[in-house]
Amino acid sequence: MNAKQPGYYCTKCDAQFLKWSGQCTECGKWSTIVEGVSDEAAVVRPSTSNARAGKSQSFATLEQTAHEPRTATGVDLWDRILSGGFVRGSVTLLGGEPGIGKSTLLAQLALVFAERGNRVLYVTGEESPLQVHLRLKRLATVIPSSFEFLDQTQADVIAATIRETKPNLTIIDSVQSMRLPDVAGEPGNPTQVRASAAVVAEAAKQTGCSIILVGQVTKEGELAGPRLLEHLVDSVLMMEGDRTQSFRLLRVVKHRFGNTEESGILTMGEQGLVEVLDPSAAFIADRPKETSGSVITCLMQGARPLLVEVQALVTPAGFGTPSRRVTGVDANRLSLLLAVLGRRAGVGFGDQDVFVNAVGGVEAKDPSIDLAIALALASAKFDKPLARDVIAMGEVGLAGEIRPVARLALRLKEAARLGFKVAIVPKEKDTVIMPMMTVIPCSNIKEAIQAAGLR
Ligand code: TYD
Ligand code: MG
Repeated sequence: MNAKQPGYYCTKCDAQFLKWSGQCTECGKWSTIVEGVSDEAAVVRPSTSNARAGKSQSFATLEQTAHEPRTATGVDLWDRILSGGFVRGSVTLLGGEPGIGKSTLLAQLALVFAERGNRVLYVTGEESPLQVHLRLKRLATVIPSSFEFLDQTQADVIAATIRETKPNLTIIDSVQSMRLPDVAGEPGNPTQVRASAAVVAEAAKQTGCSIILVGQVTKEGELAGPRLLEHLVDSVLMMEGDRTQSFRLLRVVKHRFGNTEESGILTMGEQGLVEVLDPSAAFIADRPKETSGSVITCLMQGARPLLVEVQALVTPAGFGTPSRRVTGVDANRLSLLLAVLGRRAGVGFGDQDVFVNAVGGVEAKDPSIDLAIALALASAKFDKPLARDVIAMGEVGLAGEIRPVARLALRLKEAARLGFKVAIVPKEKDTVIMPMMTVIPCSNIKEAIQAAGLR
């Protein structure tokens, strides 16, 4: 037998296994597990035999540094997302699909931050400095002289540059383009990404320079890059949204130095990305009048309520299996709701094609969207519009019951602010009372369909 432990590893995410299997249980990819020892696992660990003792210190000596003030970025959205600004030596990962606007968002941030007298280093890897310059010229008339670039993909050179020039902020666009010469593999492979990120993160800790790493994410591969790095970085931010729609969501996935419930909605314009100050109003602005299949709901986006329109379209199916298409909502959720509507409310869709869309292009993950989907489906099926001032929210269970949602009062307040007068909500022990609003608690989907005036 081989002296080295025989094993298997995933070529996509580098997870280690004792047995082979068809699907990687870590990243979910198929046919990526191969026999052997990955480069990562094969890296020779340095010998510890001649290590000198470290010096332990009292925590009390850290008191001064623990509350180190943050450097405000100068951009409201970023100061909010980062809970006050950049922490010295912190590493932030910004993930998102190609073309979503990561480079644009960071260019805007860098311009403002540099304008305030901070030294910013932009490491170009994915694009040429000329391309980045073109973008900067679109975004600002004057580029501050303290905003520099480094055309480099070698991580150790980038780290050495940070150590020598000590910028206040370094942006590396992107982490997939970095490489280390003595690590095996092409840039972008898990081992290269992890090793390169570790090298620049160390430079951040040593110099106090804050670093933002850009991580490309593929649609089906989920967090191909960022997931590998989550443990290595202090904060993970994600930029999401449908590229074909105008809204982008910037949200916090992990934040070692503050609140993870913050988020911001942005829209891409001529002058780059601008924050939408009243997202709820913007999201329901284009709602069609007197059309069946449209229901407004209120979701929680982190700590903030957000009104969203759900649209459903139901048409007689042609031959074969009727199709079910979704955008912005979970396809499994739709299947479940169709089954529940059929069995518990007598509204069947067996021979119908069904399309459901959460308008705005922001992925709706909050389960309280269920009731709005169900009512939109029923409204589409009966071709009966809901009254314009009705809002609905609640999670729907398999028995057709409507389950409570978190922060109902906060959501209703947001709905009331935008002029909604009737709310169909889950039945709870204490009914929420809202001035100027009729709140109708419903315990199941059948009641809700009646309350909405659809039957
Ligand atoms: P980009 O920021 O390069 O995305 P990423 O870095 O995530 O790949 O570009 C996003 C898109 O935005 C791109 O198609 C060009 C477009 N865009 C505008 O519409 N307006 C602008 O002012 C800028 C700079 C870009
Ligand atoms: Mg980019």
